[in-house]
Amino acid sequence: MIYVLGSANADLVFRVPAVPLAGQTLLASDYCVLPGGKGLNQAVAAARLGSTVEFVGAVGSDANGHMLLGVMAANKVGTLHLTRVTGVPTGCAGIFVGDDGENAIAAAPGANSFASASAIPTGAFVLTQLEVPLVEVTQAAGAASTFILNPAPAKPIPDSLIARCTVITPNESEAASLTGIDLNDDASIELAAQDLLSRGAQHVIITLGARGVYWAHPGGSEYFDAPQVEVVDTTGAGDAFNGALAHHLHAATSMREAIPLAVQIASISTTHVGAIDPSPL
Ligand code: RIB
Repeated sequence: MIYVLGSANADLVFRVPAVPLAGQTLLASDYCVLPGGKGLNQAVAAARLGSTVEFVGAVGSDANGHMLLGVMAANKVGTLHLTRVTGVPTGCAGIFVGDDGENAIAAAPGANSFASASAIPTGAFVLTQLEVPLVEVTQAAGAASTFILNPAPAKPIPDSLIARCTVITPNESEAASLTGIDLNDDASIELAAQDLLSRGAQHVIITLGARGVYWAHPGGSEYFDAPQVEVVDTTGAGDAFNGALAHHLHAATSMREAIPLAVQIASISTTHVGAIDPSPL
């Protein structure tokens, strides 16, 4: 069983020529409301690969919450530990996706602030991010025997939490925010990873977008290339990576084999609009 503690959002996605600048008004070619939230995206990615997944989070008693419950059911994501909150809207993210597939996102937590880790049992395999309260992430880390933290969106976290990480998976900007190192070349990527290892993480995987990922652990380090694909929308690529990585590690695949499999899933995820694979299960 993989416990995914995290957010579930309704994503309001605008297709625009380029992500708008401050003060700019753009005409979007279209918009749509899609399921999202880093937690739900990661839970669905793991479940679609065949893992048994329990989603630990919260949605509102509104139409968006109802829509997300349908997505969980359709993707066989367990909801035993899902809280339905009344009087608070389901989390929502506004997403601009440019013609180059790049995006800008602002997410309002809403009901995600009510996610509770209290039901996660001792010894659990946990995957989480930082769109739910840090106190819940910390509680999950205390219970977990395997703890994968995708530190997104970037926010300050204590070293005691980093030291609980079996795997920590920042992207470049999140790694920069956690370490204070400007990641602008291989040397700085490697230095940032060493910094996180020195603070107690067992494995550090820095995701590098179209380039692939860098993996460092106390025994060594390695770069993994990403396959070249026709990019439509990069939203949720990191989530697809984390969900797939959790699936393969939970299935006792070695880290060296799990990483390229997860990179492949992340690359495929950029070839469709939205954070969740729209094809039927
Ligand atoms: O990582 C992408 C996700 O971030 C989106 O689905 C959005 O909801 C935000 O949580």
